[in-house]
Amino acid sequence: ARLAILISGRGSNMQAFIDACGRGDLNASIALVLSNNPGAAGLTHAASAGITTACIDHREYDSREAFDAAMVAEISRHDPDLVILAGFMRILTPVFIEPFAGKLLNIHPSLLPKYPGLHTHQRALDAGDAEAGVTVHFVTPQLDGGPPIIQARVPVKSGDTADSLAARVIQQEHIIYPIAASWLLQGRLRLSKQGAILDGDPI
Ligand code: GRF
Repeated sequence: ARLAILISGRGSNMQAFIDACGRGDLNASIALVLSNNPGAAGLTHAASAGITTACIDHREYDSREAFDAAMVAEISRHDPDLVILAGFMRILTPVFIEPFAGKLLNIHPSLLPKYPGLHTHQRALDAGDAEAGVTVHFVTPQLDGGPPIIQARVPVKSGDTADSLAARVIQQEHIIYPIAASWLLQGRLRLSKQGAILDGDPI
């Protein structure tokens, strides 16, 4: 199977996919790593791992739709089975989401439906939550609102900062994201009108 991975920054989740493919945990290869950010550190890491990379700078487009259409064209050339948003920090329109419906995943560092959007770890701390976590979900036009697939939970510890909590959560991100992708590639997981279905049952 072929993966396209979209990043905006350091790309540690992308690296988790590279590692999972290398170990054979994921029966897939990475056909493309695409970034909106020419300075994304993950682009350099992907290129030095011998992976095809591309950059489409959103600042060169007049509208989100025009940017999304350019990304769809680039990604489609690589014919991926799965499109993985891994720290991709642009809001996507239906121009992007519809062509990849059912094979487009995102990871969000909160226990959705809590804390869609930014600054999730600080918001969990401010709320006095006893636990935090991360969610992999299907992408729909609702921001961070598509059907959840898998979550991991971590404790919030006394003295935690947003950074220390993020460091605890990201370890779990690297574990659960390739698992969700493997379910989809194995045909065990699908997106239905009712939500995510795993092995025939609603999640
Ligand atoms: C992760 O916390 C991810 O959940 C969020 O953005 C961060 C990306 O980190 N969407 P990385 O670039 O994968 O290291």
